[in-house]
Amino acid sequence: MLKEKILKILNKQVNEELFSSYLYLSMSAYFSSINFEGFAKWMSLQSKEEYEHAMKIYNYILQRDGKVTLTKIETPKTSWSSALNVFQETLKHEQHITACIHNIVNMAIQEKDHATTNFFQWFVTEQVEEVATAGSILEKIKMIGDSKNGLFILDRELGQRQ
Ligand SMILES: [Fe+2]
Ligand SMILES: [Fe+2]
Repeated sequence: MLKEKILKILNKQVNEELFSSYLYLSMSAYFSSINFEGFAKWMSLQSKEEYEHAMKIYNYILQRDGKVTLTKIETPKTSWSSALNVFQETLKHEQHITACIHNIVNMAIQEKDHATTNFFQWFVTEQVEEVATAGSILEKIKMIGDSKNGLFILDRELGQRQ
């Protein structure tokens, strides 16, 4: 059985991951609305990944005989000023998620919950990748600056994501 405070923080993380999925879907819709279909595809795949993260934790709670408690998902923003603005917020959001994951691991260690400590190592590694990816796309957008041509090429590049 999971300790009550661990169960609570895991259910909170399910909500955080579902919100991430919702946020990236909203960003995808924003990109579609300004005809950046490559950025839109990238964000919609990112949204699916976040849903999978939520489900990983959801299934882990069940495996540990815990009760999954779904709660209200915050409304995401629906418009941004530019691609630059979207990726600034994406990076900020992933940094926030990294802090949440580290918080869970710290609590699991403190509570001597070895299974949860171990399970969340995957997320620790995943967050290193997520922050690096968001950061690298942000850097590219900064390099491109006001070049429409550059954004067009990056849109095509991001649209290749499978
Ligand atoms: Fe995630
Ligand atoms: Fe993420």
